[in-house]
Amino acid sequence: MSSQQYSPGLENVIAATSSICTLDLERHVIVLRGYNLVELATKTTYEDVAYLTLYGHLPNRREYMEFTSRLREYRDIPKEVVEILEKMSRDSHPLLMMKAAVATLAAYDPELEDNSLEANFRKAERIIAKLATVTAAAYNIPNGRGYIRPKNDLPHTSNLFYMITGREPNDLEARIFEQSFTMYIEHELAVSTFAARVVASSMTDMYGAVISALAALKGPLHGRANEMAAKMIIEISSPENAEKYIQRILDRRERVMGFGHRVYRRGIDPRAEKCREMLKELSDAKGSNYYEIVERVVEIMQAKKNLYPNVDFYIGPLYHLLGIPIELYTPIFAASRIAGWTAHIAEQQANNRLFRPRARYEGPRDLKFIPLDERE
Ligand SMILES: CC(C)(COP(=O)(O)OP(=O)(O)OC[C@H]1O[C@@H](n2cnc3c(N)ncnc32)[C@H](O)[C@@H]1OP(=O)(O)O)[C@@H](O)C(=O)NCCC(=O)NCCS
Repeated sequence: MSSQQYSPGLENVIAATSSICTLDLERHVIVLRGYNLVELATKTTYEDVAYLTLYGHLPNRREYMEFTSRLREYRDIPKEVVEILEKMSRDSHPLLMMKAAVATLAAYDPELEDNSLEANFRKAERIIAKLATVTAAAYNIPNGRGYIRPKNDLPHTSNLFYMITGREPNDLEARIFEQSFTMYIEHELAVSTFAARVVASSMTDMYGAVISALAALKGPLHGRANEMAAKMIIEISSPENAEKYIQRILDRRERVMGFGHRVYRRGIDPRAEKCREMLKELSDAKGSNYYEIVERVVEIMQAKKNLYPNVDFYIGPLYHLLGIPIELYTPIFAASRIAGWTAHIAEQQANNRLFRPRARYEGPRDLKFIPLDERE
């Protein structure tokens, strides 16, 4: 195999065809089923965008009402899932608990082994609805708050906010939480989505592919960046401390979480621009200095490394101002991205070709076998 065929990390490699999402770098737009994702996130509901992501068109009023009412109906989770979460170690990261919960949900889905497009769509709706409940339960149960049942009279994101914080959001919080949550819904072949597609290509069940996506999301180079960015902003605590703090990270040759992106190498992530505005609005409303700290860190990173912030850099501090516990930031990302993951799994399985690339072998060949008792 020639070396030209090899691209480390599959950088710039087209690894699948898809009609779900693309990152249009020339026009600086994330295209979701033909629409501008950032515009959708700020103009409509999560449910509207989830329907679009899954089914490929914006729902008409009847489709919307039916979809939202099915999601509400599916929200509750079986008691066996609650029991599994109760049995897990209290120190487990909520994402570990979510993987266990999804594995348990699989055992209770009557259509688990049916990978037809129709069954995959039905399972996707159930998983989208239940993963929000699992997200909150994965924090509430180990923290001694018990299983907080979903409220079926609230929209998807306000219900998630309620299950996490124990109170319904005010109008400003509800808008900012829903908009930032919807920004996460889909982003082409991010490593978690790619993992889901690769696993789905063996024609295993949708839940298995979702578990692989959750595992990928847990990594600091992907979903955990929002959690780590929030911790960093809290520790910096004032714009004057930012330079020293960042320099210390760079001197250790470590990465500053929330900066850089494999695809947006020469410009800012379009979602980050909008989340920056939201952070300004929320910081002003809550009398916080987070916006000033974040702006200072951006200046420093641009001067020292010529790197731009990504969406996680803003969403971490945004969620902190909303009163959301830090360990839930990545699980919340998952609760949104599940619509993208399941859409990709359904698309992959509807027109499947097994992923089976080759490796460029760099190990030895032609070694002579030595029996065990003759080895040094
Ligand atoms: C997202 C990320 C994994 C992309 O990585 P990548 O495409 O492999 O980028 P590269 O490793 O090629 O980085 C290019 C250069 O920028 C540096 N760099 C990239 N991101 C950096 C960061 N966040 N902090 C400091 N330096 C960074 C690299 O060290 C490298 O420098 P070098 O050429 O001197 O070695 C990387 O930017 C990163 O780790 N960011 C922090 C985690 C994060 O925010 N993840 C969320 C992504 S949405």
